[in-house]
Amino acid sequence: MRSLSKHLPGCLRTFCFALIAFPAVANAEVRWSDTELAILSSLRLSQLPPMPVDPSNTQENNPHAIALGKRLFFDPRLSRNGQVACATCHDPAKQFQDGRPRAVALGMTERRTMPLAGAGYSPWLFWDGRKDSLWSHALAPLEDALEHGGNRTRYAHLLKANYAEEYRAVFGALPDLAGMPQDAGPLGSELEKKAWDAMPAPAKQSVSRVFANLGKAIAAYVKTLRHSESRLDRFVDALLRRDRKAGEHLNDSEQAGLQIFIGKGQCVSCHNGPLFTDHFFHGTRVPPRDAASPDPGRSEGALMVQQDEFNCLGPFSDAKSAQCLELRHMSIYEPALRRAFKTPSLRGVAERAPYMHAGQFASLREVVRHYIAAPESVPVTTLRGHGHGSGSALLPVALSEAETNQLIDFLGTLSAPVVEVVPAQNPRR
Ligand code: HEC
Ligand code: HEC
Repeated sequence: MRSLSKHLPGCLRTFCFALIAFPAVANAEVRWSDTELAILSSLRLSQLPPMPVDPSNTQENNPHAIALGKRLFFDPRLSRNGQVACATCHDPAKQFQDGRPRAVALGMTERRTMPLAGAGYSPWLFWDGRKDSLWSHALAPLEDALEHGGNRTRYAHLLKANYAEEYRAVFGALPDLAGMPQDAGPLGSELEKKAWDAMPAPAKQSVSRVFANLGKAIAAYVKTLRHSESRLDRFVDALLRRDRKAGEHLNDSEQAGLQIFIGKGQCVSCHNGPLFTDHFFHGTRVPPRDAASPDPGRSEGALMVQQDEFNCLGPFSDAKSAQCLELRHMSIYEPALRRAFKTPSLRGVAERAPYMHAGQFASLREVVRHYIAAPESVPVTTLRGHGHGSGSALLPVALSEAETNQLIDFLGTLSAPVVEVVPAQNPRR
């Protein structure tokens, strides 16, 4: 002690004592067990399997489809008022989301806009998974009165007037649209529905096919959006090769937060793998946006995807029925799915408040506090008689204020730019 203070003349004796007597407190070095290292290894972006193939969209890797899809994604003419594009809500400058609690276009939606990087890995799309492919997904906002508010014949005419050549290069020539109403579709206004009903079945079929192809081109582009490596990936790589400088990538607090994330916080039981999601649905008892009519989440989404004319088994899918494994084997066991929502990826999460399916929490601190409180399961019937209560899949987590801060610090290490990864040329499989 004395000799050390001699070597450090500027150091107050008492201060030096504190440093030497409590080194572990002043600079808590995190140690990792072999089990923890194995979990860390599985979280690296480099561990992502190749992008899954969507058998229902044979054009998804066609570079012409990707280029066409990109133009369509940013084209506001694909809307009722000429002002709403996918990019209106999915802004590339904000990880392809909008930073709002609930999305706004022609009206306000019930849920929060989801980011798009890595969405191609997800077997189910939307917070409730009511779509089973990126292409069938894209069709939903296009026909939704609160979002793009367009209709099927309008989109077909628009493609003919502006994208006929690009469309032909991917899907073959557009059908003859002469004599077809300008505005008609099964989900439009009363007038548009009437016009749709009056169309002969083959005309409806061919316009719906054009509509499906519009979705397939947009999906090809959305599928190129991926995460890039973050500090966490660099840290784990360094740790696994026993690089003594691993700590340069994550400071002590961030490392301690990571240890909580994969340990006592139990976060990794759902937020796992390189995308920090199990791609499944869980009831986490986030307070409903509207307590009088709680969002049913997956229990409704599961039924909707089964009935969707644009699903993998439907007439506009390119898949054989045997290839639609997810849809054929999906769970519709209702009680477990009530008020369950898709586990979101946590990559980039610190940069995109607010959180949860309707932006219920304004900050990561509120999110972590929710997990600490882990509201107990409420019997289904006691929840205002609506039968929408789901048992919480969460176990209570005891975290001190300091540990809460560490966990939040750790979540910040998952930020990195979203990039476009264009697949190797393979237009037709
Ligand atoms: C009005 C804003 C708005 C517009 C316009 C919009 N979206 Fe979305 N997007 C959302 C919202 C809100 C959700 C979540 C909705 C839900 O779960 O019900 C979402 C979800 C998604 C998802 C699901 C991601 C996942 O991981 O499940 C994809 C993919 C997507 N949108 C693509 C598109 C495409 C492609 C377009 C254009 C055709 C588009 N969106 C237009 C607001 C919008
Ligand atoms: C039982 C599975 C499960 C566990 C355990 C879990 N999560 Fe979640 N997490 C979810 C689901 C599901 C959602 C979306 C819920 C919703 O929107 O209603 C979510 C949402 C989030 C969000 C918001 C992300 C966004 O984009 O809105 C964050 C942040 C988060 N979790 C962090 C954590 C942390 C930190 C832990 C550990 C303390 C944890 N989660 C434990 C399933 C889980």
